[in-house]
Amino acid sequence: MKSSLGIIGMGVMGTSLARNFGRNKHTISIYNRHVEGKEEKVAERRKDTYDELSDAQVFDDLQKFIISLERPRKLILMVNAGATIDLVLDKLISFLAPGDLVVDGGNSHFEDTQHRMESLKRKGIYFIGAGISGGEEGALMGPSIMPSGEQEAYAMIAPFLEGIAAKDKQGNPCCTYVGEQGSGHFVKMIHNGIEYVEMQLLAECYSLLRAQQLSNEAMASVFESWLPESKSYLLEITIHILRKKEAGVAILDTILDQAENKGTGKWSAQTIVDSGFPGTLIPAALFARYLSYFKGKRGEMAQLFLTKKAAISLSTEELKAAYQLSRIINHHQGFSIIEQVAKQHKWGVSSSEIAQIWTEGCIIKSSLMQELVILLKEESDLLKNKSLNATITHGFPALKKVVVQGIDNEIHIPCFSEAVNYFNGIKTTYSSANLIQAQRDFFGAHTYQKINDPSGKRFHTMW
Ligand code: 6PG
Repeated sequence: MKSSLGIIGMGVMGTSLARNFGRNKHTISIYNRHVEGKEEKVAERRKDTYDELSDAQVFDDLQKFIISLERPRKLILMVNAGATIDLVLDKLISFLAPGDLVVDGGNSHFEDTQHRMESLKRKGIYFIGAGISGGEEGALMGPSIMPSGEQEAYAMIAPFLEGIAAKDKQGNPCCTYVGEQGSGHFVKMIHNGIEYVEMQLLAECYSLLRAQQLSNEAMASVFESWLPESKSYLLEITIHILRKKEAGVAILDTILDQAENKGTGKWSAQTIVDSGFPGTLIPAALFARYLSYFKGKRGEMAQLFLTKKAAISLSTEELKAAYQLSRIINHHQGFSIIEQVAKQHKWGVSSSEIAQIWTEGCIIKSSLMQELVILLKEESDLLKNKSLNATITHGFPALKKVVVQGIDNEIHIPCFSEAVNYFNGIKTTYSSANLIQAQRDFFGAHTYQKINDPSGKRFHTMW
């Protein structure tokens, strides 16, 4: 009996995904490498541990694993992004035949995916880059999947991926063909960028509430009261985290305040800079993590510059309104970046479809995302969308107040600050960029264009 699908890599995500395929009655072969003393009989042990894998064929020999698969072979790589993918592909290639398909389900850089796709295509092998979100639980119970590559390659794997993906409120799979080349991994990367901002905004709310001396339980109750209007997975887990105690001690209070990252936020920020779109929130959230890492320095600076702070006077209603507006700006920037980069690459990515596959299964699923499925069809620039106008105009005074109060109280609130600055900037008809142009012309004879001159003629002044 040959298996219809092979999964390589039995780490946390690979195992959960394999169990999901098993539960959905797919015949699968699973493989994990053999590393003496470190990774021995891993696939076999997974089969012994999990019921869903009881019918799986298990291997630590790559050639035998490949032989166990139906042709054309369909393989999913669940190994570490980066050099490991190329190492595995190098080994795999000699066993594969034209028409076979390899899917990379890791957090790979979309440009790497594109190169891999082209190089495998020269050998007649299909390659799909599939962003997968939802962590361990998502992979097991239904993740959000963002696959891209050649349409005919997607058609080969679609029934498998769509079958195990999360389902939206209407029962549609949270998996769709994203577009050409590496657009799937690109979209997953921006998903993670949006995720960084959503997390940072909640962290900034936490800072502001903590500065008002609220207990963790009181903060959890405030966040809970936001759920009817602002429901999201990240808000829900934050409430849970705030309440979690071990031996009477709040775990959150024992965690070192240095935020780590695995690189997708950095890639998002780099891509945003290259794209030319002023997507300011993702870099702000990334730099907030970097800044947190300077723990020692922060302590020293606090000694040097500690001042008496003003008292914060913010209602939780104001904080919620500011949070909601900042989230709209975050999603507006995220989807605008997707549109801009997709256009530059000539990918046919649909923002509304992306929002749909992000309504369930992924880390940024929320009630706002559900609204966006419709709203992005009507008007892709969310800030111009009439349905969001009331939330935006209601949130703006609150956001200004939050930022003023935060700064007055010396609280680090980079995402709230960037949100209000972006909003102020994007609705400024006459900016100060005329001065920048004059300065450039002054020292570098870079020339400038004139107001109300549609000819676009360039001028230079002997300053
Ligand atoms: C997901 C997550 C997942 C993960 C990333 C981000 O969509 O399931 O985004 O991909 O949490 O590794 O992690 P960092 O915060 O470590 O960059």
